[in-house]
Amino acid sequence: MLVSAKEMLDKALAGKYAVGQFNINNLEWTKSILLTAQEMNAPVILGVSEGAGKYMTGFETVAAMVKAMDKSLGITVPVALHLDHGTYEGCYKCIKAGFTSIMFDGSHYPIDENIKKTTDECKAIADLGVDMLAAGIGNIHGKYPANWPGLSFETLAAVKDKIGDMPLVLHGGTGIPADMIQKAISLGVSKINVNTECQLSFADATRKYIEAGKDLEGKGFDPRKLLAPGCEAIKETVREKINLFGSAGKA
Ligand code: 13P
Repeated sequence: MLVSAKEMLDKALAGKYAVGQFNINNLEWTKSILLTAQEMNAPVILGVSEGAGKYMTGFETVAAMVKAMDKSLGITVPVALHLDHGTYEGCYKCIKAGFTSIMFDGSHYPIDENIKKTTDECKAIADLGVDMLAAGIGNIHGKYPANWPGLSFETLAAVKDKIGDMPLVLHGGTGIPADMIQKAISLGVSKINVNTECQLSFADATRKYIEAGKDLEGKGFDPRKLLAPGCEAIKETVREKINLFGSAGKA
């Protein structure tokens, strides 16, 4: 059964670990992530961007697929279905479709307004009925450049100071070194988003399969065979992250 992300994040905050949000793109991604979370007895959040939702023919399709798969695979760990970087309209559609968690992305507001809101209103945000807050602390989506200065723990501590017991979210989980992840968790980060890393592992494993000519051996072109190494690679990435985030065994 799908659950709200709130309870799992409150538990993570108290237990000083983070729940992984892994973005999904299709059936293979969803199945690989759900099976790995179950294998590791870890709560998990399936993230869906508006673009991925559209790719999968809409949020209703996504919600129906995830609910049915959760049931048919016999998943017992807590699973939340979450809209990632949503617009107002997207949030509304996802709630109607049965998503159990949504992110409203206000980062497109003019920078002055955004800074003002972020500086003065963290406490007010906590009083608005918002269950988690993703503040920018030097994290970015995709691969980090070689000259990336790292996460700003001063900013993280200052935000945490204002919002009290609200769980914090760290986006851009791909490529953040393990020590920084652990420090962020110790400072109140309870949800970490990973997307690019699963895509890279999938692409890498698929490329190796094709470059080795395996798709030309027997029925190696069968999509169930062709996509299998990529799925195994996603599972391995999710396993590593769940271990790093400390959420294994916390279901
Ligand atoms: P990465 O793609 O950098 O892992 O970031 C994922 C993310 O933050 C999704 O919101």
